Amino acid sequence: MDVFRVYGGQPLEGEITISGSKNAALPIFAACLLTNERITLTNIPGLSDIRYMVEILEYLGAKVENPKIGKWVVQAEKISHVAPYELVRKMRASVCLLGPLVGRLKKAEISIPGGCVIGPRPIDLHLKGLRKLNCKVSISEGYVHVDASQIAGSDVFLGGRNGSTVTGTANLIMASVLASGKTRIESAACEPEIIDLCQMLTKMGAKIENIGGPELIITGVKKLSGCEHKVIPDRIEAGTFIIAAAMTQGNVRLNGISYTYLGAFLDKLHEAELQIEVTEDSITIFPHKGNLKPVDIITLPYPGFPTDLQAQMSSLMSITKGISIITEKIYPNRFMHVPELQRMGANIAIEGPSAIIKGPCKFSGAPVMASDLRASAALILAGLAGQNETWVQRIYHLDRGYESFEQKLNTLGAKIERLSDKDLPANLFEI
Ligand code: EPU
Repeated sequence: MDVFRVYGGQPLEGEITISGSKNAALPIFAACLLTNERITLTNIPGLSDIRYMVEILEYLGAKVENPKIGKWVVQAEKISHVAPYELVRKMRASVCLLGPLVGRLKKAEISIPGGCVIGPRPIDLHLKGLRKLNCKVSISEGYVHVDASQIAGSDVFLGGRNGSTVTGTANLIMASVLASGKTRIESAACEPEIIDLCQMLTKMGAKIENIGGPELIITGVKKLSGCEHKVIPDRIEAGTFIIAAAMTQGNVRLNGISYTYLGAFLDKLHEAELQIEVTEDSITIFPHKGNLKPVDIITLPYPGFPTDLQAQMSSLMSITKGISIITEKIYPNRFMHVPELQRMGANIAIEGPSAIIKGPCKFSGAPVMASDLRASAALILAGLAGQNETWVQRIYHLDRGYESFEQKLNTLGAKIERLSDKDLPANLFEI
């Protein structure tokens, strides 16, 4: 297994380009199953989650080519409807194949993805939505079975106790674009990744009204065609690099990113008095003198503050003077990074769904364990801002969602080495 050795203390400087969005690309790959024609996708990040998705599409019968970096061509002429556990278990997001299989084949059998370290991730709303579309849904032997032979447009309320569901909305949209009649999805997720999916489906011939709003109206069509689509930039990757720059008092320009989808996040950085300049397609972070202000944050569905930047923001607030409270409303238990940040010196107390952070701490390097994708990033950022060396283990979590993370950071002057866990110094484990 790979590990990172992070040397702290270097301010980040220079510029990099932000990659395509993982969470937009995954349902977009799944949407390729809705037509037998060729789909060309560009700005696809090189990530292990993308490789897992391609593996499943190929298993289902699609022909998938990768003619150059970032470009993929998918043609799903003839496909089958069963996605087995061996493949689905590798990545929770494979549940977004449910919608396209139902839409195209009017039947689906998908293994239910297993548990997840960031908290329970049920799919009850996905299934409720499909039932509303007149599908017969049952669960047996760990699989969801959907008989959609009588599928028809309908009104669906998709809100849950923690708000809207992103992948659930993607599934319902993809199930209904080829269903007869009109489907009205109330409390639909408004995330930019859903907008990107709707824009691609529209190019394929789907009829979707109110794209980007919480009430989507979909009028079913008989057939969808091929198209070319460029995936939006990754707003979470951009946010992570902005925080990395802030944590090292660096001066960094991020290219290929629009500020449009970063509103709530940039607003909090403004409140923290970080100097940022935005243009149409770039964001520049200016150095500060270690005098940022603490901010209170509540994570919410878009356009609220994204849960996927909560862990990284906890690292930043740990080295910021004052008290900040970060409340997690999407995954109330998503605090697995906290004990590891504490081991590096952070002063954080968890009270229910809130982290109370007393700063400033001076992070000091330690061997730490990444528990999920965003937690990995939070620990690496703490290592960059800290003293000495930080060894971050279980880096495979990071590789799921950040393209060339250490190369990009090293381009900005960081010093991070990717090593094997065999290289971990024995004295790290001495008691
Ligand atoms: N929920 C239900 N029932 C459902 C579905 C969701 O109660 O049927 C709850 C969840 O437990 C959670 C909330 O609703 O409390 C939101 O979950 P959602 O379905 O929106 O999450 P998701 O679609 O599974 C996507 C991203 C996550 C991101 C969340 C929230 C993808 C592939 N994943 O997950 O990304 O955190 O939306 O924005 O798009 C990540 O990239 O690190 C990541 C975890």
